[in-house]
Amino acid sequence: MQARQIKIFDTTLRDGQQCPGAGMSFENNIEYAKLAAKANIDIIEVGFPSASKLDYMIVHSVAKEIVENKSSPIIAALCQLRENQIVTTVRSLEPAIKYGRARLHTYVPVDSQLMSALGDYGKNFSQIIKDVYNYIKIATQADVEVEFSPEGYSRMGEQFNFVTDLIRAAIEAGATIINCPDTIGGACKLQGREYFVEKMNDHAKIIEKEFPNKKITWSAHCHNDFGLALENSINAVIYGPATQIEGCFNGIGERAGNVSLEQSIMFLKKFGACENNKMRYYTNVKIEHLQAISDFVSINMLQRQPHWPITGENAAKHSSGGHTNAIIKNPLSYQPFDPNEIGKKISFLFGPFSGGNHAKDIIEEFGYICLEEEKACIAQFIKDFHSERRKGITDSELISTYIEYRKPI
Ligand code: KIV
Ligand code: ZN
Repeated sequence: MQARQIKIFDTTLRDGQQCPGAGMSFENNIEYAKLAAKANIDIIEVGFPSASKLDYMIVHSVAKEIVENKSSPIIAALCQLRENQIVTTVRSLEPAIKYGRARLHTYVPVDSQLMSALGDYGKNFSQIIKDVYNYIKIATQADVEVEFSPEGYSRMGEQFNFVTDLIRAAIEAGATIINCPDTIGGACKLQGREYFVEKMNDHAKIIEKEFPNKKITWSAHCHNDFGLALENSINAVIYGPATQIEGCFNGIGERAGNVSLEQSIMFLKKFGACENNKMRYYTNVKIEHLQAISDFVSINMLQRQPHWPITGENAAKHSSGGHTNAIIKNPLSYQPFDPNEIGKKISFLFGPFSGGNHAKDIIEEFGYICLEEEKACIAQFIKDFHSERRKGITDSELISTYIEYRKPI
């Protein structure tokens, strides 16, 4: 079986911080980048250096702290397609340039609704194509690798040829990564296949034919407005040409967020062997760090929902009697993978549907004796005692109720 590595492009610090309420201090940006680097994330998009002095400092400092050699993560920074922004962004990446680990990411809209915001410039296609070539050239001449995004790719509509011209100009100027964004997260299930499989495949074929000697990385950047970011990203990998997924931890990002990286990584780990068994997809991320990164984002950026897939508080917590019984015997009985692999512990909550084994386990953990024949009766007493507590009780509440049960009448 052939194996294909899928690169993970983490934009938690850039697209993630564009999410209202998720911005972090300078120190936390550095801290986050260190966590991502420790987990072997391939590319860390740190920010938008031309937006403010602080953003510039963050990108520059992360590049300085993180990049130590030629196998350090690549540090990426975003800018609009404007000469002054390209120059500032290249400068901010300087500490990473000497090790060949700097990436400038630039974009132009190709969706007519986004282009209308550009006024007359948005109608001047030939000028936009020339600018793509000329401005990207500035970055590639400074030894920075360039990623180009036709923003709003999934709403390009009739503009396939214009998008091809832009991609061609970007590649002629030296760009080596082409990223296709579902900017407004509006690609529905069917359109998702149309854009992230068919159109991307068509573009990749045209480019391969025109530039047979260039190695181009295709990338998917999906927002989650209809909850389809994971499906669209995975389609782009398994059925389309993508070998890079862009997203954020905990799925944070503009509006309804970006694709969740922990979901993408664990999905590829579990289902990475393709249907026809001819290809296996994998990432180089050290999954034992996923929980810690997700916790960091939840504490410092935006609080995670308890039932959030993979890393949420409830993702490995069990309450019902039947599930608890099974899981005590076999952790995989009610888990899609062993949560220990990502640095998460299985836990239990005693609630209205819990049973004798669960009660017995806690009672014995606290050093009391619970006989096999009385466990059901004790569990029932505890449930009746707390019948109003539909959300469950803590282990210490369970123990005080057990002591109550033991009191002589
Ligand atoms: O969603 C988007 O289109 C973006 C681009 C800048 C890549 O974030
Ligand atoms: Zn985005």
